[in-house]
Amino acid sequence: MPAVRAADRLLERPIPRSGEAIPAVGLGTWQAFDVAGNAAEMAQAREALRALVDLGGRVVDSSPMYGSAESVCGALAAELGIGPKLFVATKVWTSGTQAGIRQMEDSMRKLRVERLDLMQVHNLVDARTHLATLREWKKAGRVRYVGVTHYHVGAHGDLEKFIKPGDIDFVQVNYSLAEPQADRRLLAIAAETRTAVIVNRPFAEGAMFGRVKGKPLPAWAGEIGCASWAQFFLKWILGHPAVTCAIPGTRNAMHVADNLGAASGPLPDEAMRKRMAAHFESL
Ligand SMILES: NC(=O)c1ccc[n+]([C@@H]2O[C@H](COP(=O)([O-])OP(=O)(O)OC[C@H]3O[C@@H](n4cnc5c(N)ncnc54)[C@H](OP(=O)(O)O)[C@@H]3O)[C@@H](O)[C@H]2O)c1
Repeated sequence: MPAVRAADRLLERPIPRSGEAIPAVGLGTWQAFDVAGNAAEMAQAREALRALVDLGGRVVDSSPMYGSAESVCGALAAELGIGPKLFVATKVWTSGTQAGIRQMEDSMRKLRVERLDLMQVHNLVDARTHLATLREWKKAGRVRYVGVTHYHVGAHGDLEKFIKPGDIDFVQVNYSLAEPQADRRLLAIAAETRTAVIVNRPFAEGAMFGRVKGKPLPAWAGEIGCASWAQFFLKWILGHPAVTCAIPGTRNAMHVADNLGAASGPLPDEAMRKRMAAHFESL
């Protein structure tokens, strides 16, 4: 199984607004960590989180929309004693000022943190309302960074409007070889406005593995250190200079190690990224 060794140094990228560096591959928890009450799946999630931190990863992304994922993540981080090492991102996904405040406070309890590293408005739901609260919370030190998210190309224009004024720290968006549209405009605007970019759905919710099933990696993928299709997909994403961090979803510790492997060794330059895209298209 291709993996990163604990001794390898993970690629980190700076959050433009602060200069603080975070590992370029993190962990998404949608579905994967919605496992409260299932002992076998909880044990898998524990090993996935342990692997993330053992191998130098830190970024975990959740949401109140993900069932028990926030509670599971908080409980496992406490059990493993790794809470302080994590960069914890979650979201607010409701309407109205008071409902937003209640939900965000609830998330902090579930995740067992006194302040959140990153609070994002999930799918831009009632974004102006929550961003007003979050600007206050940031001043008061309850959140360190503020962001907006979406998962669909149809919302890229709206994300663009939110980040254009240049006062939102992070934009989280879908971007992959299967869904490359963010690089038409949004990623360039993120770079211009010094907005950090978190990439969700890096494998188009896993669908990309179906497309390459039974197909070997091209020999030239070795030139950029790809030992698996997951690394091929992630290195293509990380090759875009505006990308700060990609957050593949899984509770499989082997997959976590495989994914973190994309954040070590060389990354593709623009010519190589074009070659990778053409190859993916040809499959
Ligand atoms: N609106 C939003 O804000 C929004 C929307 C979508 C997603 N997100 C965030 O982004 C994260 C990632 O998106 P996603 O979970 O939808 O999709 P994804 O990361 O594109 O794909 C997840 C799928 O990839 C598989 N996988 C992961 N690593 C693998 C590996 N190394 N080899 C083979 N298969 C692998 C997983 O299977 P296994 O479980 O078998 O590993 C799972 O089926 C989410 O978990 C969530 O945190 C946010």
